[in-house]
Amino acid sequence: MGKFQVLDHPLIQHKLTIIRNKNCGTRSFREVVNEISTLMAYDVARDMPLQDKVIETPVAKMTAKELAGKKVAIVPILRAGIGMVDGILELIPAAKVGHIGMYRDEETLQPHEYFVKLPSDIDQRQIFIVDPMLATGGSAIMAIDALKKRGASEKNMKFVCLVSAPEGVKALQEAHPDVDIYAAALDDHLNEDGYIVPGLGDAGDRLFGTK
Ligand code: PRP
Ligand code: URA
Repeated sequence: MGKFQVLDHPLIQHKLTIIRNKNCGTRSFREVVNEISTLMAYDVARDMPLQDKVIETPVAKMTAKELAGKKVAIVPILRAGIGMVDGILELIPAAKVGHIGMYRDEETLQPHEYFVKLPSDIDQRQIFIVDPMLATGGSAIMAIDALKKRGASEKNMKFVCLVSAPEGVKALQEAHPDVDIYAAALDDHLNEDGYIVPGLGDAGDRLFGTK
Protein backbone atom coordinates (compact mmCIF):
# COMPACT_ATOMS: atom_id res chain seq x y z
CA MET A 1 0.00 0.00 0.00
CA GLY A 2 1.31 3.46 -0.91
CA LYS A 3 1.66 5.89 1.94
CA PHE A 4 -0.72 8.73 2.76
CA GLN A 5 1.03 11.67 4.34
CA VAL A 6 -0.28 15.00 5.60
CA LEU A 7 2.46 17.61 5.30
CA ASP A 8 1.81 19.61 8.43
CA HIS A 9 4.70 22.07 8.34
CA PRO A 10 3.57 25.29 10.08
CA LEU A 11 4.14 27.38 6.94
CA ILE A 12 1.95 25.05 4.90
CA GLN A 13 -0.79 25.08 7.54
CA HIS A 14 -0.66 28.88 7.84
CA LYS A 15 -0.93 29.37 4.09
CA LEU A 16 -3.70 26.82 3.79
CA THR A 17 -5.75 28.85 6.26
CA ILE A 18 -5.33 31.91 4.01
CA ILE A 19 -6.80 30.16 0.96
CA ARG A 20 -9.57 28.39 2.89
CA ASN A 21 -10.94 31.77 3.94
CA LYS A 22 -13.86 32.68 1.67
CA ASN A 23 -12.64 36.29 1.66
CA CYS A 24 -9.36 35.35 -0.06
CA GLY A 25 -9.54 36.83 -3.58
CA THR A 26 -8.40 35.26 -6.84
CA ARG A 27 -5.00 36.94 -6.94
CA SER A 28 -4.01 35.90 -3.40
CA PHE A 29 -5.52 32.45 -3.87
CA ARG A 30 -3.37 31.86 -6.95
CA GLU A 31 -0.20 33.17 -5.29
CA VAL A 32 -0.65 31.17 -2.10
CA VAL A 33 -1.54 27.92 -3.92
CA ASN A 34 1.79 28.24 -5.69
CA GLU A 35 3.62 28.94 -2.44
CA ILE A 36 2.08 25.91 -0.75
CA SER A 37 2.97 23.78 -3.77
CA THR A 38 6.62 24.82 -3.53
CA LEU A 39 6.71 23.94 0.16
CA MET A 40 5.04 20.59 -0.48
CA ALA A 41 7.41 19.76 -3.35
CA TYR A 42 10.33 20.05 -0.93
CA ASP A 43 8.93 17.18 1.12
CA VAL A 44 7.55 15.14 -1.77
CA ALA A 45 11.04 15.14 -3.32
CA ARG A 46 12.66 13.97 -0.09
CA ASP A 47 13.26 10.40 -1.28
CA MET A 48 14.76 11.33 -4.65
CA PRO A 49 17.94 9.30 -5.11
CA LEU A 50 21.38 10.93 -5.16
CA GLN A 51 24.63 9.96 -6.80
CA ASP A 52 28.23 11.00 -6.28
CA LYS A 53 29.75 13.67 -8.46
CA VAL A 54 33.41 14.68 -8.32
CA ILE A 55 33.82 18.45 -8.61
CA GLU A 56 36.38 21.08 -7.73
CA THR A 57 35.37 23.91 -5.45
CA PRO A 58 37.61 27.02 -5.52
CA VAL A 59 39.45 25.41 -2.59
CA ALA A 60 39.63 21.65 -3.16
CA LYS A 61 38.48 18.63 -5.09
CA MET A 62 35.53 16.84 -3.49
CA THR A 63 32.97 14.12 -4.05
CA ALA A 64 29.64 15.93 -3.89
CA LYS A 65 26.04 14.80 -4.46
CA GLU A 66 23.66 15.34 -7.35
CA LEU A 67 20.19 14.03 -8.17
CA ALA A 68 20.22 10.65 -9.84
CA GLY A 69 17.59 8.37 -11.27
CA LYS A 70 14.46 9.25 -13.14
CA LYS A 71 13.72 12.73 -14.34
CA VAL A 72 10.48 14.34 -13.20
CA ALA A 73 7.20 15.02 -14.98
CA ILE A 74 4.58 17.20 -13.31
CA VAL A 75 1.08 16.28 -14.45
CA PRO A 76 -1.68 18.67 -13.37
CA ILE A 77 -5.30 17.57 -13.59
CA LEU A 78 -7.04 20.45 -15.40
CA ARG A 79 -8.12 22.93 -14.55
CA ALA A 80 -7.26 23.41 -10.92
CA GLY A 81 -4.04 21.38 -11.00
CA ILE A 82 -2.49 24.08 -13.20
CA GLY A 83 -2.39 26.31 -10.14
CA MET A 84 0.19 24.04 -8.51
CA VAL A 85 2.62 23.69 -11.42
CA ASP A 86 4.68 26.88 -11.21
CA GLY A 87 5.23 26.39 -7.49
CA ILE A 88 6.76 22.96 -8.06
CA LEU A 89 8.81 24.18 -11.04
CA GLU A 90 10.45 26.67 -8.66
CA LEU A 91 12.22 23.69 -7.09
CA ILE A 92 12.43 21.32 -10.06
CA PRO A 93 12.83 23.69 -13.02
CA ALA A 94 13.89 20.99 -15.49
CA ALA A 95 10.70 18.95 -15.01
CA LYS A 96 8.52 18.37 -18.04
CA VAL A 97 4.80 19.09 -17.73
CA GLY A 98 1.98 16.87 -19.01
CA HIS A 99 -1.71 17.75 -18.83
CA ILE A 100 -4.78 15.66 -18.14
CA GLY A 101 -8.12 17.38 -18.67
CA MET A 102 -10.87 16.12 -16.43
CA TYR A 103 -14.16 17.56 -15.24
CA ARG A 104 -16.57 16.20 -12.69
CA ASP A 105 -20.22 15.93 -13.66
CA GLU A 106 -22.02 18.07 -11.09
CA GLU A 107 -24.95 15.65 -10.82
CA THR A 108 -23.29 12.24 -10.86
CA LEU A 109 -19.87 13.38 -9.55
CA GLN A 110 -18.34 11.07 -12.16
CA PRO A 111 -15.15 12.37 -13.84
CA HIS A 112 -14.93 12.82 -17.61
CA GLU A 113 -11.63 12.91 -19.45
CA TYR A 114 -11.38 15.52 -22.23
CA PHE A 115 -7.65 16.02 -22.87
CA VAL A 116 -4.39 14.14 -22.40
CA LYS A 117 -0.99 15.42 -23.52
CA LEU A 118 2.08 13.91 -21.88
CA PRO A 119 5.85 13.99 -22.38
CA SER A 120 6.76 11.25 -24.88
CA ASP A 121 9.07 9.57 -22.35
CA ILE A 122 6.45 9.55 -19.56
CA ASP A 123 7.09 5.84 -18.91
CA GLN A 124 10.65 6.70 -17.81
CA ARG A 125 9.82 9.60 -15.51
CA GLN A 126 9.02 10.08 -11.86
CA ILE A 127 5.52 11.57 -12.04
CA PHE A 128 3.98 14.12 -9.68
CA ILE A 129 0.23 14.23 -10.37
CA VAL A 130 -1.13 17.46 -8.92
CA ASP A 131 -4.66 18.63 -8.13
CA PRO A 132 -5.65 20.82 -5.18
CA MET A 133 -8.67 18.66 -4.29
CA LEU A 134 -9.05 14.93 -3.61
CA ALA A 135 -12.79 14.60 -2.99
CA THR A 136 -14.45 11.35 -4.13
CA GLY A 137 -11.13 10.37 -5.72
CA GLY A 138 -12.77 9.76 -9.11
CA SER A 139 -10.67 12.33 -11.01
CA ALA A 140 -7.38 11.18 -9.49
CA ILE A 141 -8.18 7.52 -10.16
CA MET A 142 -9.09 8.22 -13.79
CA ALA A 143 -5.98 10.39 -14.29
CA ILE A 144 -3.77 7.58 -13.03
CA ASP A 145 -5.61 5.13 -15.31
CA ALA A 146 -4.82 7.47 -18.23
CA LEU A 147 -1.14 7.55 -17.29
CA LYS A 148 -0.95 3.76 -16.94
CA LYS A 149 -2.64 3.32 -20.32
CA ARG A 150 0.27 5.30 -21.77
CA GLY A 151 2.97 3.16 -20.19
CA ALA A 152 3.60 4.85 -16.83
CA SER A 153 4.03 2.65 -13.78
CA GLU A 154 2.16 3.28 -10.52
CA LYS A 155 5.44 2.83 -8.69
CA ASN A 156 6.74 6.02 -10.34
CA MET A 157 3.73 8.14 -9.39
CA LYS A 158 3.01 10.43 -6.46
CA PHE A 159 -0.30 12.23 -6.05
CA VAL A 160 -0.03 15.69 -4.49
CA CYS A 161 -3.09 17.63 -3.35
CA LEU A 162 -3.89 20.42 -0.93
CA VAL A 163 -7.13 19.26 0.68
CA SER A 164 -8.23 15.63 0.85
CA ALA A 165 -11.38 13.89 2.06
CA PRO A 166 -11.27 10.49 3.80
CA GLU A 167 -13.57 9.09 1.09
CA GLY A 168 -11.13 10.10 -1.68
CA VAL A 169 -8.03 8.85 0.11
CA LYS A 170 -9.65 5.44 0.65
CA ALA A 171 -10.90 5.16 -2.93
CA LEU A 172 -7.53 6.18 -4.41
CA GLN A 173 -5.58 3.82 -2.17
CA GLU A 174 -7.89 0.93 -3.11
CA ALA A 175 -7.76 1.66 -6.85
CA HIS A 176 -4.02 2.42 -7.08
CA PRO A 177 -2.31 0.96 -4.02
CA ASP A 178 1.24 1.76 -5.16
CA VAL A 179 0.72 5.51 -5.50
CA ASP A 180 1.91 7.62 -2.56
CA ILE A 181 -0.51 10.41 -1.61
CA TYR A 182 0.59 13.74 -0.12
CA ALA A 183 -1.88 16.32 1.18
CA ALA A 184 -1.67 19.55 3.14
CA ALA A 185 -4.84 18.55 5.02
CA LEU A 186 -7.21 15.66 5.62
CA ASP A 187 -10.65 17.19 6.10
CA ASP A 188 -13.77 15.79 7.70
CA HIS A 189 -16.13 14.53 5.00
CA LEU A 190 -17.87 15.19 1.67
CA ASN A 191 -21.24 16.93 1.63
CA GLU A 192 -24.19 15.82 -0.52
CA ASP A 193 -22.87 17.89 -3.45
CA GLY A 194 -19.49 16.17 -3.31
CA TYR A 195 -17.67 19.16 -1.82
CA ILE A 196 -15.05 18.68 0.84
CA VAL A 197 -16.11 19.95 4.30
CA PRO A 198 -14.75 22.32 5.47
CA GLY A 199 -12.57 22.37 2.34
CA LEU A 200 -12.01 25.55 0.37
CA GLY A 201 -14.85 25.47 -2.12
CA ASP A 202 -14.41 24.99 -5.85
CA ALA A 203 -10.66 25.16 -6.40
CA GLY A 204 -10.89 25.78 -10.17
CA ASP A 205 -13.36 28.63 -9.80
CA ARG A 206 -11.38 30.25 -7.01
CA LEU A 207 -8.09 29.99 -8.97
CA PHE A 208 -9.44 31.32 -12.22
CA GLY A 209 -12.17 33.65 -10.91
CA THR A 210 -14.91 31.89 -12.84
CA LYS A 211 -17.67 32.22 -10.27
C1 PRP B 1 -12.22 19.45 -9.12
C2 PRP B 1 -10.83 19.25 -8.55
C3 PRP B 1 -10.56 17.80 -8.87
C4 PRP B 1 -11.92 17.18 -8.71
C5 PRP B 1 -11.95 16.46 -7.40
O1 PRP B 1 -12.20 19.62 -10.48
O2 PRP B 1 -9.89 20.13 -9.10
O3 PRP B 1 -10.06 17.59 -10.18
O4 PRP B 1 -12.87 18.24 -8.73
O5 PRP B 1 -13.13 15.78 -7.24
P1 PRP B 1 -13.20 14.19 -7.19
O6 PRP B 1 -12.11 13.72 -6.29
O7 PRP B 1 -14.57 13.93 -6.63
O8 PRP B 1 -13.06 13.66 -8.59
P2 PRP B 1 -13.49 19.96 -11.35
O9 PRP B 1 -14.09 18.71 -11.90
O10 PRP B 1 -14.38 20.86 -10.58
O11 PRP B 1 -12.87 20.70 -12.60
P3 PRP B 1 -12.08 22.09 -12.70
O12 PRP B 1 -10.72 21.88 -12.06
O13 PRP B 1 -11.99 22.32 -14.16
O14 PRP B 1 -12.87 23.15 -12.00
N1 URA C 1 -13.69 19.88 -6.24
C1 URA C 1 -13.45 21.08 -5.68
O1 URA C 1 -12.95 22.00 -6.36
N2 URA C 1 -13.77 21.26 -4.39
C2 URA C 1 -14.31 20.30 -3.63
O2 URA C 1 -14.56 20.53 -2.44
C3 URA C 1 -14.55 19.05 -4.23
C4 URA C 1 -14.22 18.87 -5.53
